[in-house]
Amino acid sequence: MTALKGNLIFGQSGGPTAVINSSAAGVFEEALKHPDIIGKVYGAAHGIVGILQENFYDIGQEDPEELKLLLGTPSSILGSCRYKLADPAEDDTDYKKILEVFRKYNIRYFFYNGGNDSMDTCDKIAHYLDQQGYECRVIGVPKTIDNDLWGTDHCPGFGSAAKFVATTTMEVFLDSRVYDRGMIIVLEVMGRHAGWLAAATALAQATGYGPDLIYLPERSFDLERMLEDVSAIYAKNNNVMIAVSEGVQTADGRFIPELVSEVAVDAFGHKQLGGAAQVLADYLSSKLKAKNRGIELSLLQRSASHIASGRDIEEAYRVGAESVQAALAGATDVMLAFRRCDGSDYRIETFQMPLSEVANKEKVIPQEWINAAGNGLTAEYIDYALPLIQGEPKQIKVDGLPRFARLRKIQAGRPG
Ligand code: F6P
Repeated sequence: MTALKGNLIFGQSGGPTAVINSSAAGVFEEALKHPDIIGKVYGAAHGIVGILQENFYDIGQEDPEELKLLLGTPSSILGSCRYKLADPAEDDTDYKKILEVFRKYNIRYFFYNGGNDSMDTCDKIAHYLDQQGYECRVIGVPKTIDNDLWGTDHCPGFGSAAKFVATTTMEVFLDSRVYDRGMIIVLEVMGRHAGWLAAATALAQATGYGPDLIYLPERSFDLERMLEDVSAIYAKNNNVMIAVSEGVQTADGRFIPELVSEVAVDAFGHKQLGGAAQVLADYLSSKLKAKNRGIELSLLQRSASHIASGRDIEEAYRVGAESVQAALAGATDVMLAFRRCDGSDYRIETFQMPLSEVANKEKVIPQEWINAAGNGLTAEYIDYALPLIQGEPKQIKVDGLPRFARLRKIQAGRPG
């Protein structure tokens, strides 16, 4: 096969993770090793929005040492977006613009780093370019703390967020027991439709420093049943710790904050979540006349690079670098996924999943990993998640604080 010569563009999309920039480093460093095939390596500002606006950076002009620091830098270094592309059969305006920009800059490699919605975007672009006879290798690079991408054993970003959630839960557990009067703690963890991350509080529970009750979106949520669960434990221990996924819904499809007010909706039709912890804490406190704290882990859980999983950082880098290798070898319209190798030691290999199989599907926790009462996890979850939180980050510190990457972000030239 003759090599496809041209330029590469990489974009980040959706919510950040502590290791999304490790994948960026993997893509950039690998791509820059092949100047004879990939002439320019670009980073899109705010994902697909930057491509539509011709707003991207020339990564070849970055200091290689700063690119290395991406492995200890949280957030999406290029900027992110939640931008929904229309169905091209209904409105192809954005697709025409993308093709125009790709032709103008001779983009032959397009990498998009994101979750479910981003894989859908990637798939639509791959099909459109193919229909227009424009040769371009389109690769989805997985990431999401929600861990809900279809077809992969796990998603880069999840292990680090799970490690933060489990550790923080243990620390808060100790703090919540200091007084001679009891308390109700409600911890809220991210995860829109899947409870993988809220379930990480079970890792804390397994150490003896974790929640009494864990509620996940995989089971419908019943306020009265939760009150019964909590009342029984409070009567016995005078203390209750509850972990709840932000995505739990009542049988009639309402999220917890919707029990008290209306919530906003984003471009993908997703309701703005957050606030469940305080709603539940206030409710329980009014019923049980107990001191309460509602603790929303919010952005902390996806930006905590200081306690990232070393393994997650390595895997995120690897999936970025191997995506470039796969594209150079001819792959397109796929996402690189992980599968565990047989054997007692944890090892993974990557494989290619067609984007059409990944897009618009969600992987949730198997029902049999949730206990019969629907308020805890089984040992299978612990066995699954523990390997993913192993290893420590090698974050560079200056004066005791992390030294994050500082990119020059030199705007790409505008040829023609
Ligand atoms: O990327 C996934 C996620 O972190 C979800 O868990 C969460 O619901 C969502 O993003 C919130 O993101 P934002 O408020 O930044 O759009």
